[in-house]
Amino acid sequence: RIVYVNGAYVPEEEATVSVFDRGFLFADAVYEVTAVLDGKIVDYPGHVARLERSLGELQMGMPFSSDDLLEVHRELVRRNSMDEGAIYLQVTRGAADRDFAFPKHAEQTVVLFTQAKPLTGAKKGIRVISLPDMRWGRRDIKTVQLLAPSMAKMAAKAEGKDDAWLVQNGFVTEGTSNNAYIVTREGKIVTRNLSSSILHGITRAAVLKLAAERGMEVEERPFTIEEAQQAAEAFVTAATTFVCPVIEIDGVAISGGKPGPVAERLNELYIETGR
Ligand code: PDD
Repeated sequence: RIVYVNGAYVPEEEATVSVFDRGFLFADAVYEVTAVLDGKIVDYPGHVARLERSLGELQMGMPFSSDDLLEVHRELVRRNSMDEGAIYLQVTRGAADRDFAFPKHAEQTVVLFTQAKPLTGAKKGIRVISLPDMRWGRRDIKTVQLLAPSMAKMAAKAEGKDDAWLVQNGFVTEGTSNNAYIVTREGKIVTRNLSSSILHGITRAAVLKLAAERGMEVEERPFTIEEAQQAAEAFVTAATTFVCPVIEIDGVAISGGKPGPVAERLNELYIETGR
């Protein structure tokens, strides 16, 4: 695989980052994951806008222009002959002697790599458990501090399930690496409103727009695990899973334990518009 690191396209074995990099020492870094379908970058404007916002919230600027960054994405797709999969991008504050205070002068580290994988196959749905949301309070910033969601994912796997829905003050915030939704018995799509409690998903924005355009009712508000267990359907969205049905929550089957029609329809619509 050819990866991009600080201006160079190199074989992955040759790519290096300093041991003093603040991404490594402090998780002082933000990232994006963008889908690739038929060799095309999906929803790039949304991802780059969120990148710029995440960087700004951490008092960093863009390492280079949005257009130049898009060109790096495209070049990596070309060099790796990737048809379908994801592109991971990380920008760190750079390398500096270890100090909690931000360094005055540091050159940002920029790394991108591809992960070829099928994204469009039929989905059988995932089983989730609920867990307390242990993450920090600025989940709207896409930082690389991912240990809490990583541990939640492992706790789900230890129970033979696929993922966890995180709960704070009695309400679902989101999944470990996706936004969470239910479809009420009246057919209304419910997902948590945007705030610093959740990541502002790019797929979320696209899917809610598609739903509204097709006359589906959408309500942005918090919901509980109990409400979700009573719902007609549940699903999650993310750049690399698109719309993925949730078929079980804490041992309770949802939509008869198989993917629901709203989730399947939204997934098809999203893939159609992404292609
Ligand atoms: N995760 N919420 C969290 C906590 C996430 O980590 C993600 C994405 C999302 C969905 O956002 P989007 O639709 O923009 O992908 C929601 C990526 C895919 C990851 O960490 O791999």
